[in-house]
Amino acid sequence: MKKIEEVANLNNKRVLLRLDLNVPLKGSEIIDSTRIDKILPTLRFLIQKDCRIIIISHIGRPEGKIDKKLSMLPVCKYLSQKLNEEVELIEKQIFDLEPNIIFKNSKNRILFLENIRFYEQEEKNNEGFAKLLSGFGDVYINDAFSCSHRAHASIDKITKFIPSYCGIQMHNEVNALKKVTSDIKRPITCIIGGSKISTKINLIKNLIPKFENLVIVGGMANNILKYKGFNIGNSINEKNCDEIVSQIFSLSEENNCNLVFPSDVAVGKKLEDKAKIKNLSNLQDDDIILDIGPETVNSINYLLQNSKTVLWNGPAGYFENPNFSIGSKKIAKKIVELGNDIFSVAGGGDTIAVLNKVNAFEKFNFVSTAGGAFLEYLEGKEIPGIRALN
Ligand code: 3PG
Repeated sequence: MKKIEEVANLNNKRVLLRLDLNVPLKGSEIIDSTRIDKILPTLRFLIQKDCRIIIISHIGRPEGKIDKKLSMLPVCKYLSQKLNEEVELIEKQIFDLEPNIIFKNSKNRILFLENIRFYEQEEKNNEGFAKLLSGFGDVYINDAFSCSHRAHASIDKITKFIPSYCGIQMHNEVNALKKVTSDIKRPITCIIGGSKISTKINLIKNLIPKFENLVIVGGMANNILKYKGFNIGNSINEKNCDEIVSQIFSLSEENNCNLVFPSDVAVGKKLEDKAKIKNLSNLQDDDIILDIGPETVNSINYLLQNSKTVLWNGPAGYFENPNFSIGSKKIAKKIVELGNDIFSVAGGGDTIAVLNKVNAFEKFNFVSTAGGAFLEYLEGKEIPGIRALN
């Protein structure tokens, strides 16, 4: 990948900058700003070069429709504060903008297009849309490793139409992950949690042959519990997954991979509830599984004590409510406590938020801003955003 530093002459250029500022939000409050803080060096570099910058990013999954709750406005405000200059949100539809005069109509040099996933063309990797976007810049920079596993228009197709480079954070992350995966020490424990079940459940099959222990917590574990015949009440789960879960079990047996899932859980009737610890056989129809229980934490800690590497993506529970963040926090604390006895790598926006809550971020050997992209990298899959830049 050609780096931002290799652009022959950036001075005064219009730079189209793809970032992944998909940060955890509570209303319009940013719960964890790490993903934004990490790309500040790229923005400062471009400002120093007198560039005019148009930022493209997404938040959440609005599925091609405008959803005000998923506006980029809170991110714009945060960026303005950090950079000490106005970052202007362009709310007008991209189709109604004139690429050549967009800066002439503004007193600002940093513009931010509204959530790019408000356009259905983005996720479809639509060529015409990518071409239209490319018209807004002289140079394109991808500093969004964490969404580069998506073959979307502003990540993949756009590179067909404009000189394209990788940003500072993207370069650092890919190099660090390359090093982590080539020098990895066994036994390896991989912990996968979070709520993006549909994204992750399929890639688990490819991860099984690579690790000694695979711990499944968070939303995905509900599918496993359901498959095992437990009542999961009102807990989130993915439809029609029994076939995949059955393959996960047979593959883990074939590959001697120790598959671990919750043996007890913390439940509530609503997301805002207090936690009640329950055995799997005591769950009621209106219970929602929102965290792992103490027995499960102990089993995970035992595995960690006997591992040389831990790779972790996705919280063990609904960490946004502190009552259900106990499992994730205990895992983080255990890893920190093991210090040099274990090489620790974590990835993903929500996982970072958990690490920050217990001041563990700096104590991990490497933390990637990427969740899904991090897992796909571990799988050994080609990452479309990297391929496109190559
Ligand atoms: C992430 O948070 O992992 C990236 O922003 C990608 O989000 P997605 O899983 O909704 O594509």
